[in-house]
Amino acid sequence: MVNPGFLVVFCLSFLVFTEATKTIDSHLSSADLERLSGVFDDALASSDIQSIYYGAMHIKDLQKKHSVLCPKVTQLHKESKLNDFEKNFYLVNIYKKLACPNPISESIQSAISLKKEFSNSQEMFFNYQSTRALGFQIVDEIKTALAKNLQTIVRKDDSFASLGYAFHVAAELGATGAPIADWIEGAFAQADEIGGKMLQFEGGLSVTALVLNGAFKLTKALKKPAPITEEQTYKFVTYLLSRRSVQIPKGAHVLIESLALISADKTVSPICVQIVGNGQIQPDSPLVHVKIVDLLGKPLSPHVSSVSATVTAKQSSTPLVTKQALISKSSDKTVFELNLSSAKPVRGLYDVQIFADQYTQTLGIKILGKVKVKGLEIGVGESDSTSALKKQTVEYPNKLSEELNADAQQKVILRVTLADEATGQPMTVHQAFIRLQHKETSEEIIFVAEQDTSKAYKFDMDVGARSADFGHNSGLYSMDLIVGDASLSNSFKWYVADIQLKFSSQPKVANKTPIRSSRPEIVHQFREPEKRPARFVSDLFTGLCIVPLLVLFVLWSKLKVNLSDFPFSLSALGFHLGFGAILSLFCLFFWKLNMFDTIRYLLPLALATFFFGNRLLRSIAARKSS
Ligand SMILES: *[C@@H]1O[C@H](CO)[C@@H](O)[C@H](O)[C@H]1NC(C)=O
Repeated sequence: MVNPGFLVVFCLSFLVFTEATKTIDSHLSSADLERLSGVFDDALASSDIQSIYYGAMHIKDLQKKHSVLCPKVTQLHKESKLNDFEKNFYLVNIYKKLACPNPISESIQSAISLKKEFSNSQEMFFNYQSTRALGFQIVDEIKTALAKNLQTIVRKDDSFASLGYAFHVAAELGATGAPIADWIEGAFAQADEIGGKMLQFEGGLSVTALVLNGAFKLTKALKKPAPITEEQTYKFVTYLLSRRSVQIPKGAHVLIESLALISADKTVSPICVQIVGNGQIQPDSPLVHVKIVDLLGKPLSPHVSSVSATVTAKQSSTPLVTKQALISKSSDKTVFELNLSSAKPVRGLYDVQIFADQYTQTLGIKILGKVKVKGLEIGVGESDSTSALKKQTVEYPNKLSEELNADAQQKVILRVTLADEATGQPMTVHQAFIRLQHKETSEEIIFVAEQDTSKAYKFDMDVGARSADFGHNSGLYSMDLIVGDASLSNSFKWYVADIQLKFSSQPKVANKTPIRSSRPEIVHQFREPEKRPARFVSDLFTGLCIVPLLVLFVLWSKLKVNLSDFPFSLSALGFHLGFGAILSLFCLFFWKLNMFDTIRYLLPLALATFFFGNRLLRSIAARKSS
């Protein structure tokens, strides 16, 4: 006999294990949703019926807008070049959503029919949804016929779009649509994996969402398990979230729809566990806030019952706290607080492993530290002597009361120890600089302070040797210590002292111009023309080119050109004048006109010349034959 108690425990544990366990570290945030709602706002104002439809699906209190939108949509429907079934679908649904007062015309209503054989699933889907939106009942015989029709369609066309629409229709058909579910597995087997991280269908967001949403709706309608595994869901979600910046109303709509459908399926959907803020934790109050929400940023239902965390230093792998419970914040039920005060964390990078019921998630945080100045000494001494120089101590954040003086034979020395406020240990920081700024010209020069073997930072400047760096610009300089580090919460700049520097040589004039003076304006320069030969040479060659023409005239006069046979008819004169004009035009082109002007003048000339030439040739031919 099987113990019934065991059976109950077995079933319960089975129930627990069928729930998803994956977590993701991002979700559609309120900022994303706000931006997408902006996309829908713009869509509503557009003059594209499809965009208006998607806008209308997402915008509340539309009733106020129907006086403008209803006539506009009616007009857009008339002008639209979309397929009838598609634009009818938009019209009917917008009318319904807006509660437009005027009825939908008879001709449109009669065009929406399910009593026919469809050749593609898209048309069937649109007609089905339009019929529903018009408020008509769809009887079982029609559903059975549609289910049969659908099977014929997907056997012929199993493209992603065809299958996607088929899944959507089948989901509406109830049990009669069940055979279509057989195509789900095959469709998902063809999804493309991107870098092992994401899954999508070829064709991008709209195709991916079409297949995904249809499959989820269909399996849900048939009360079957989710169409894809938890692993696949995770990858599709990663893809969908990567497309959150979509600007197209349809894309925005299907993105939200997809994430909502997936979120609703607890057996496969990942949840989002993320650190609130930038992950930098202040040393004064080391509180880590963890947000646990669904993919649309909504609270989980039911809420997670227990949240705890193990925090481990990245470098040493020693745990700071182990399975410490997080407290749900009363102001925001999705946020849980981890208080690390009693663990006294030191500055550094940590891994936070979060356990929320069956989910675990590992996230990184950086605990910031505080630096304190342990003692700063400053002094001026002879550069060639090795004897100890007189140093003065300055307390943070004061400024040395007296003014220091250093000339070219001397050196300036500064020594400072930086310590971690929490541990008191000397600390190494990313940046420790000494800045010297001329009080009058504001020119500045920055030196790096080096850490010595005792971990103190040291700055040692031989004034004479550095003279050139200062442009030999003597005068009163202010001296700052700059300490910065990404892991510090109190990086600082400290005005330590004033110092009079005297360089031996005079400043060069060139060095007087400030380093950041404005540069001359950049003006676009055209390419310089190629070098040309001298005027005389080019004229000479032009002359040489004309010589054959001269020779021609000379020879003509020698030959005694006979013009007596010239027919003084309109066509002969016209032709010769036109021809001459064209030649002159070419000369002008060579001389001053550009090509476009030349062509503009040439066209009428050429036409007239052609006309007269044709007449002339005809008259010559007629004369010859007579
Ligand atoms: C965190 O814990 C410390 C001591 O354990 C306590 O003093 C402090 O008030 C707590 N902070 C918050 C915000 O609960």
